[in-house]
Amino acid sequence: MNNYQAIFEPLSVKRMTLKNRVVMPPMGTNFANMDGTFSMQHVSYYEQRAKGGTGLITLENVCIDYPMGTNGARQLRMDNDQYISGLWNFNEKMHAYGACTSVQINHAGASAYGLRLDGEQPVSASNIPSKKGNPIPRPLTEEEIYGIVDRYADGALRAQRAGFDCVEIHAGHSYLLSQFLSPLYNKRTDKFGGSPENRARLTKLVVEAVRKAVGPFFPISLRFSADELLEGGNTLEDTIDILSYFAEEVDILNVSAALNDSLQYQIDKMNLPDGWRAYMSKAVKERFPDKITVTSGNIRSPKRATEILESGDADLLAMGRGLIAEPNWVNKVANGQEDLLRKCISCNIGCADHRIAKARPMRCTVNPDLHYEDDYKMKPILHPTKMVVIGGGTTGLEAAATAAEVGVNVELFEQKNYLGGLGHEIARFPDKKRIDDFITYQINRCKELDNLAIHLNQPASLADIEAIGPDIIVNATGAKPLLPPINGLKEQLANPNRKIFSIFDILDDMTKFQEFEGKEIVVIGGGAVGLDVVEYYAERGAKKVSIVEMQGEIGKDLDLITKLAMMEIVEKFGVEVHVETKLTEVRESSFLVEKDGELMELPFDLGFVCLGMRAEAPLIRELDNYARSNGAVLLNMGDSKVARRIMEGTREARDILKTIEVLENTRTQKMLFEQTKSLQATQTI
Ligand SMILES: Cc1cc2nc3c(=O)[nH]c(=O)nc-3n(C[C@H](O)[C@H](O)[C@H](O)COP(=O)(O)O)c2cc1C
Ligand code: SF4
Repeated sequence: MNNYQAIFEPLSVKRMTLKNRVVMPPMGTNFANMDGTFSMQHVSYYEQRAKGGTGLITLENVCIDYPMGTNGARQLRMDNDQYISGLWNFNEKMHAYGACTSVQINHAGASAYGLRLDGEQPVSASNIPSKKGNPIPRPLTEEEIYGIVDRYADGALRAQRAGFDCVEIHAGHSYLLSQFLSPLYNKRTDKFGGSPENRARLTKLVVEAVRKAVGPFFPISLRFSADELLEGGNTLEDTIDILSYFAEEVDILNVSAALNDSLQYQIDKMNLPDGWRAYMSKAVKERFPDKITVTSGNIRSPKRATEILESGDADLLAMGRGLIAEPNWVNKVANGQEDLLRKCISCNIGCADHRIAKARPMRCTVNPDLHYEDDYKMKPILHPTKMVVIGGGTTGLEAAATAAEVGVNVELFEQKNYLGGLGHEIARFPDKKRIDDFITYQINRCKELDNLAIHLNQPASLADIEAIGPDIIVNATGAKPLLPPINGLKEQLANPNRKIFSIFDILDDMTKFQEFEGKEIVVIGGGAVGLDVVEYYAERGAKKVSIVEMQGEIGKDLDLITKLAMMEIVEKFGVEVHVETKLTEVRESSFLVEKDGELMELPFDLGFVCLGMRAEAPLIRELDNYARSNGAVLLNMGDSKVARRIMEGTREARDILKTIEVLENTRTQKMLFEQTKSLQATQTI
């Protein structure tokens, strides 16, 4: 028995009994088919999380009023009875693993997906967009409001008929009900606007209609933004008061937070601690002690999860991205495999950014296969195979572990005395330390594999490779900072009393960069790395921080959450931003930059040049020659192919399975051919 028993306490809510306290909250995936039905991959994604031991699986927000209530590039529908059969099939599959199911029913209001509206204006409480820059909606008429209440009731009844154990009403996150609840969106002067009671009226009608539809014994959950975390929005206290208008008929209060313009607190940014929002569910529980409460927000560690439950801050833990990254979270914790938890690092690149900002299917930085997970381990190789991996960063580690898991004999060479590469180095920034969780997991995974040898402090030489004679060579040697030919740059970097640095200087020895007060910092380059430096200095009280970017905006390639978080830092700490500004000369204590043909000198105590990274593959030609002459396969992956993010490297590394498959197939075909030939020869004799 481990110390996390609170997680495994069953809980009954009306006729639903959960086998443990872990809830997969609703998360849009963009996996649905265009017609609003499930794709096979979609169901498989959920199945993995049910198989992994999750107590309650909540199906991502589903449209109950098409097309005006839809959101997301691909969304499931349940606005008519034709969808019931697909939903039933989903439930059967989840129940087979002992998971209970819920579905989040939703009307997007002003957050509707424009391309499906056929030119129609989205609807809302008032004419306020649900996000800065979104289309202006039109206010709903009273008659329309009552019609929408009926759609919720119809949706809930369908949920029940489709075999769900619970239904969740989405009243948060800047969707329609939230647009009525929040004073930021609701400017109405009729009985649906103004006072808290009036703003609560639509949600109250919906809750009552849903209860009438599903009857007294069916659990109803309500998700809401407890603190909207925006000036002028509902505070935690406001929301708790508002809840009193409709909480009676609700069984589960699913306490979320924030609106679209404060999304970094809803799909929590990386530096927010595990379960930081539990104080919100605690406050809700204090006011509504008879209700079941749910909290969410960066909950990754079983220790923190247990603390939240034991302290009574919440009855249930919603682990969203935690389960994207690690579908087997519950089973691994139950089996004492905590060191093998692949914890979500809250980077928001593969999930939130793909789904919300890019209309792409959900992916994950640390989990390269959301649909079929570990199924590959069931197909071990039949022919002895050797592989050499050069580079022990996240890409090299992933490729090495994956290949070894199917039976390949792997040797990994890393020239430094630590593993994890650039990811581990970036994790030295306190705000980025979660990245190390991934590396720790990869290292622990490698340790389990007897057929994987890791050589630290050993840059691979051609002689090493020749001695091993591998069938596959993986080059994963990472990237180096880009240093363009700018006047004075190389000279200043070589200056023994230099005041300018690259990202590696700061990461190599952070103790040299711990003076903040009174310092003027100038960062050249407004990409992810430059902004990490800005965050580091601005948050620690540097006197003045400036950033220079050649393009029209800073953080152009960041995921939407990190970008929002960075913009908040820029605003809060008065960071001076120079866009469309080019570095022309580097001097001892200043940068000379040019904007619109005008030169400007930016003096600094410390200057940082973060102009991007370039692929680094020093051995690649020799490896190529070796591979050609020895019939080996050479793969260059991750940053040493093209400098990108961790996610692309992890994905490419998992694709090692395709190379292994091709090699296996060729060998099997050859073996069968030889056998057939010898059989034929015997028969001829
Ligand atoms: C890709 C993505 C889609 C999401 N979609 C929804 C949604 O449809 N409904 C909802 O209530 N919350 C949604 N959320 C919020 C999550 O349910 C969860 O509250 C949030 O990610 C914070 O919890 P976590 O740190 O455990 O991920 C979404 C989050 C992500 C990352
Ligand atoms: S993409 Fe990043 S934030 Fe999203 S689940 Fe994966 S690790 Fe977590």
